[in-house]
Amino acid sequence: MQGGMKSSVKSARSCVGGRALARVGRSQGTRGSRGVAMKGTDRDIQIIPSVLPADWANMGQCVADLEAAGVDRIQFDVMDGNFVPNLTFGPEMISACRKYCKTPFETQLMVSQYASEVMLEDYVEATKGPNGEPGVVIVHVEACDHLHRVLNKIRELGGSPSVALNPHTPAEAVKNVLCDVDHVLVMTVNPGFGGQAYIPTMLDKIREIRAAIVEGGYDVDIEVDGGIKADWTISQCCDAGANCFIAGSGMFAYPTLKEGCDALRAVAKDAQAGKVLAAPETVNA
Ligand code: DX5
Repeated sequence: MQGGMKSSVKSARSCVGGRALARVGRSQGTRGSRGVAMKGTDRDIQIIPSVLPADWANMGQCVADLEAAGVDRIQFDVMDGNFVPNLTFGPEMISACRKYCKTPFETQLMVSQYASEVMLEDYVEATKGPNGEPGVVIVHVEACDHLHRVLNKIRELGGSPSVALNPHTPAEAVKNVLCDVDHVLVMTVNPGFGGQAYIPTMLDKIREIRAAIVEGGYDVDIEVDGGIKADWTISQCCDAGANCFIAGSGMFAYPTLKEGCDALRAVAKDAQAGKVLAAPETVNA
């Protein structure tokens, strides 16, 4: 793909080398009204566990168990102790898990700019599907001075590019690369740890990004990650326009992974059908 897009990057039609053109018709033409698109209810709900709460000594078995639970994708949180104050694992751990399941993988790179660029090919390869299908590779806008170049590099390497925003980062920071990504990840906690409290003030940012996606005619999923549970948190994010939901403690807390996955999916589907759960009064959403 030629990254040499001319100045008319804004309109979908000029993203010929990108993705928007081929899929505009499908997402806007045939899948529902603008109102539906603005809510993202024309998009499939995806439940995506984070492996942070898993038994790391048996990660292969864990991904096989998550596949059996019916999840849509599996997220690997890569932390380098630099971009975030925690350290997890590298591409080898992700590759080692590939032979245990067929479920698509996604890798969230909470790493420095150096690692985002120098190790990018290793992460794209490690995240691919069992037959080389594109895996979702998420870079943080805060870690990439050359975000457009990195996103297009992921696509060139055969990955599915995605961009993440920390809670303080405005939606504006990603609007110029919506035609270069398949997903936008809105962090609903400050990255670095599982089990943190959901930040309820991210809803307007989700709405703003969904509106920009619809305005541009782009075919882009919105993911949310951090403190997501089968309650008002997933319900309100879904109502705001998100359709992909990462959950660590919110899924592993159930007696079985299947119960956790089903509970999250049921509340999200209800929200898409208009049954949105209210936040507790104590929460100033
Ligand atoms: C945090 C990670 C999240 C985290 C989610 O930096 O990006 O994926 O594991 O865990 P919960 O759902 O427990 O907040």
